Amino acid sequence: MKLQAVVQKNQIKLLAFKALNRLLPNYYNWLKASNKRKLLKKRLLEFKTKPDDIFISTYMKSGTTWLQMILYQLTSSGNMDFEHIYDISPWIDKCFEDGEDIKQLPSPRFFKTHIAYYNFSKKFNAKFICVVRNGMDVAVSQYHQLLDFGVNVSFDKSFNKYFINKNRDKDWFHYTKHWLTNKNKYNILYIRYEDLKTDFKGSLFKIADFCNIDINDKDLPRIIERCSFEYMKKYEGKFIPERNKHKNENFIRNGKSGLGKEKFNEELLELHKDKFNTHLSGFELLKAYNPSL
Ligand code: A3P
Repeated sequence: MKLQAVVQKNQIKLLAFKALNRLLPNYYNWLKASNKRKLLKKRLLEFKTKPDDIFISTYMKSGTTWLQMILYQLTSSGNMDFEHIYDISPWIDKCFEDGEDIKQLPSPRFFKTHIAYYNFSKKFNAKFICVVRNGMDVAVSQYHQLLDFGVNVSFDKSFNKYFINKNRDKDWFHYTKHWLTNKNKYNILYIRYEDLKTDFKGSLFKIADFCNIDINDKDLPRIIERCSFEYMKKYEGKFIPERNKHKNENFIRNGKSGLGKEKFNEELLELHKDKFNTHLSGFELLKAYNPSL
């Protein structure tokens, strides 16, 4: 009887230990993410913006770097003497994370960011250019970036773990929904990656107009040429983020639209449709991305 009680007690202890072991990493990850978000909000609050600052706010793999190059070409003579695009257009999230000072930059300053909408305070005073891209193309581009980082992952897993992320800051559907809803009524210009491809000149003038930049006729051919896929591919080394992580030069990868769907099997497509319908089907801007249509 006594022995049975001891065994039972040990079994309970074992079960409790197993449960704790399962819960602790989740709790630890939650705590880590929560602290990271708090720090980010604090840094954003402390950050002194200038009214003509431009934040290129995108979900990763949506054309962020392309916009950085467009703004660089629009605001300078466009020479390629710089070492890395981050010297001209810092990735603000990384600077905050690494405690790096933002160096002196000429106005208008333009920053890259993947920070989720709700981390910015209501009074954040800057302009935003929000680039959106068909989710299926984003998911495939993201998958290739992971492969490039040396992550051994299938497309299925990449989609489920990274594109649909438990951390809502990193889930494409939530990220996009919040930026498009624009609850705080920031001054945002929305640009579709696909429109940049089909009507580059039209999109360029929209961007310039939004940023109060005049385009000189003589500069136009240079801007168009230097923002082309081929030109940027030639200088790929100046654009690769976190260079030491990339195994190959495959960052300016293929720059195509509409091919992402080919990677989706029935199951993934259904999942994508379901999430899209829940979060994004109401946005006119994203109509062409609706996988159900
Ligand atoms: P693909 O992987 O589909 O080729 P981000 O800068 O947000 O990470 O986005 C990267 C994506 O933008 C990549 O997509 C890359 O090829 C594409 N891209 C970068 N520069 C481009 C350009 N000049 N024209 C078209 N696509 C470009």
